[in-house]
Amino acid sequence: MNKTLTININKSKHSKLETTNFDELSFGQIISDHMFVAEYKDGEWQDLRIEPYGPLQINPANATLHYGQSVFEGLKAYRNEAGEILVFRGDANQRRLNESAQRMCIPEVPEEIFMEGMRKLLEVDKDWIPKQAGCSLYIRPFIFAADDYLGIRPSNNYKFMILTSPVGNYYSKPVAVKVETQYARAVEGGTGAAKAAGNYAGSLFPARKAQKEGYDQLLWTDGKTHQYIEESGTMNVMFVIDGTLITAPISTGTILKGITRDSVLILAKEMGMPVEERFLTVSELEDALLSGRLEEAFGTGTAATVAFIRLINIHNKDYVLPEKAAGAFSDRVLKRLDDIKYGKVADDHGWIMKI
Ligand code: COI
Repeated sequence: MNKTLTININKSKHSKLETTNFDELSFGQIISDHMFVAEYKDGEWQDLRIEPYGPLQINPANATLHYGQSVFEGLKAYRNEAGEILVFRGDANQRRLNESAQRMCIPEVPEEIFMEGMRKLLEVDKDWIPKQAGCSLYIRPFIFAADDYLGIRPSNNYKFMILTSPVGNYYSKPVAVKVETQYARAVEGGTGAAKAAGNYAGSLFPARKAQKEGYDQLLWTDGKTHQYIEESGTMNVMFVIDGTLITAPISTGTILKGITRDSVLILAKEMGMPVEERFLTVSELEDALLSGRLEEAFGTGTAATVAFIRLINIHNKDYVLPEKAAGAFSDRVLKRLDDIKYGKVADDHGWIMKI
């Protein structure tokens, strides 16, 4: 689609900016003043608009409510010292949204609609991008089925929307995780590689069980043998063992193609860190913990960036990780990533889009 896009803008008369405390931001609680909306009707995306954030009218027969035909993305906008707005790897999120959409039989959103919709929304709500250190504006694009129909088939109508939310840290301290050997997040041939709403719903019950036992999140294992580590909570997961960075490969279709995962792997190689994309077994992990060879473990994701793991429970035994050494890889790579995102160093990778 190369024609110029028309995005109608209807601005809110009552901004929530004045009543929002930017000094106490957690994750996902506050939604900015406006939202972007596009409708998929008669085989094309149309009626592009920005309107005040508010409730939608949904018929109780809406297909998403019943069958979960819905996908989403998460990315962030940052403010540099000059006050400019920087978006990190938005092109990668746009591509992944469409990969997820394909898997869920949802029509793809053209790149121009995603990018222009996001750009205009950020322009309208630029004052919602926090100035506080370590904070950012989380951007949540999503697509969902809009047919009112109780039969099961792909919907004919959809909504593509973008919300934004000023956020602080996702985790305020290092996390305790438990190796899950009963439930699975994903199986080969399933939807694990897609950022599909149902994947997250299915993870809630096992995660809540672990939380009741005092853990923050799960370390997911493969659905067939439960011997191979796949992800942690809603994040990809990485380990440093004997100086090598190890993370699960994306080849099985059970691992989300994390954009933070990809960025960390690229930076690790540039930093001279040996990298192995391979499945780590639970027993290998336990051996590394017992022999003191596990140096670091951390989750990677847009929301948390790098979430340090302090404790791992394996088969009902708690293993406390060693204190991170000065100059630990996870600290260095997090700083490098943040420096790029906040525009403190040159963007050598072409990861930053200026709004
Ligand atoms: C992310 O880290 O990108 C996520 O998708 C987390 C979200 C489920 C809160």
